[in-house]
This record gives sequence, C-alpha cells and structure tokens, in this order.
Amino acid sequence: MDNRAAWETASRKHVREYAELLAEARAGTSLFPVELDLLRPLLEAAPAVVHLQSGHGLDDVALVKAGAASVVGVDFSRTAATAASRRAADLGVPCRYVVAELPGAPLRPGCADLVYTGKGALIWLPDLTAWARDVTALLRPGGHLFVYEAHPMVPLWTWDEDEPRIRPDRGYFARSHVNDTFPANGAVEWQATLSDVITAVLAANLDLLHLAEHPDPFWRPHNTNAAAWRGQLPNTFSLLARKPL
Ligand SMILES: C[S@@+](CC[C@H](N)C(=O)[O-])C[C@H]1O[C@@H](n2cnc3c(N)ncnc32)[C@H](O)[C@@H]1O
Repeated sequence: MDNRAAWETASRKHVREYAELLAEARAGTSLFPVELDLLRPLLEAAPAVVHLQSGHGLDDVALVKAGAASVVGVDFSRTAATAASRRAADLGVPCRYVVAELPGAPLRPGCADLVYTGKGALIWLPDLTAWARDVTALLRPGGHLFVYEAHPMVPLWTWDEDEPRIRPDRGYFARSHVNDTFPANGAVEWQATLSDVITAVLAANLDLLHLAEHPDPFWRPHNTNAAAWRGQLPNTFSLLARKPL
C-alpha cells in the first residue's frame, strides 16, 4: 500500500472518534506550551495561517482560539480533510481544508502570514528542499514558518521501559525506514538529519530565528512509558523562520 492509501485508512480513526475529538477541540487546546510560547507573539497579529499536513485539524481550532484570523489546512487524505472540515463547521471556526499532495500546495502565493506544520509531518516528505521552497512561496514577505516536530533521532530510540536503548537496525544517516509500530505500521518514513532540515530552510531563503531541541515527545502511545521519553534524550524540536521583507 502506498503512503497516501495508508493515510486514507489511518485517517478513518478521525471519523470513528469524531465525537471525542470534537469534545477535545471544544474543551481545550492541542497546542503544547512550547508551541504556545513561540506562537503567542505571532498570533497577537491575527495571522492568516496555512497548516501543511493538517490531519485531524485539532491544531487549527487551537490556533484560532489562540488568535489566528483563519486557517487553511492542506492534506492529501480526503478522509482527514472532510472530518476536519465538519468539525470546523460544528465549532463555527474559520478553518477550511484543501485536499492536495505536498509539496505543491494549490494556494495563492503569498497568502500566508504563518505556515504551521509538524507533529509527524516531515517524515512523509522525501524532499525537504522542495517542501521549504513551497513554504517560501506561500508566505508573504515578513511571514513566518513554525515547525514543532519529532526529533530526527527518534527513529533510533527503542520503546523499552527499563532503560533507553538505540535500535541496531536504524541509523541517524539512513534515508528511510519502514515503520513497525502503530499507527503507521508498514509505511515508509523518510529521514532527515537536523542539519538537513536547517539547510533546506536556509536554501529556501528563510531566516532562521529559533531552533531548540526538547526532551518530551509530541505523542505517547497508550500503555507505553518508554525510558527514552524521560528527559535524557531529544524527542522533539521547534523551529521558527521568517521570509525576509
Ligand atoms: C501524523 S499526521 C500529522 C498531522 C497533524 N500535524 C496532526 O497533528 O494531526 C500526518 C499527516 O500528513 C498527511 N500527509 C502525509 N504525506 C503527505 C503529502 N505528501 N501531502 C499531503 N499530506 C500528507 C497525512 O494524510 C496525515 O494527515
């Protein structure tokens, strides 16, 4: 099965769990404190946001609650985009969804004050140079790119609970691996080093404003408490860049 078909299947979860996700979106925020800290000054200006690989769209509701004027989510899963769109309508928030394969978002160049992405997005893209070029095209001059994403070391960590270990079958410098855990079991995930990500951002003529590595993962599968997530190792990174004026 190719990755698009795999995501069409995986995204049915957003439909099965529609009511729970709606309640979650209504009640709180899916944005992490580290995201809110960095985004708050940008959201004060009520930006038009484009969310690349928007998935179930909970972050879009949270971005609007935190100040965004509007969010356009782009995702190649029609199932995910349809569920997100229905949720936005139920909540009365200004979020709309476009079904499209990325990179190559079919949106007006310069339409975004802020491009938001991450939380399991970049691993599906084999060419980050093309991704970053797409981001630059979407941003207006002075607009920002925000990424909160799994750290590129994450594929190497085992989920052992007694102590952290490195998987002998994975390499930091490998180009890809086959995911062997829920929910993407069987799908090919691309790997980029941290320097690959930064080089792609700089090559797209974006100015790097912030880069930080964090110990907490953005996702903890149920019933797992991996030792690799207890503060000793990097599990996420945050990045903020700006298109020059
Ligand atoms: C792990 S989800 C993360 C989504 C979102 N950040 C969230 O937290 O819900 C990854 C998303 O990327 C989408 N996706 C993967 N590859 C894509 C591509 N090449 N073009 C567009 N969407 C893609 C999938 O359909 C899926 O919804």
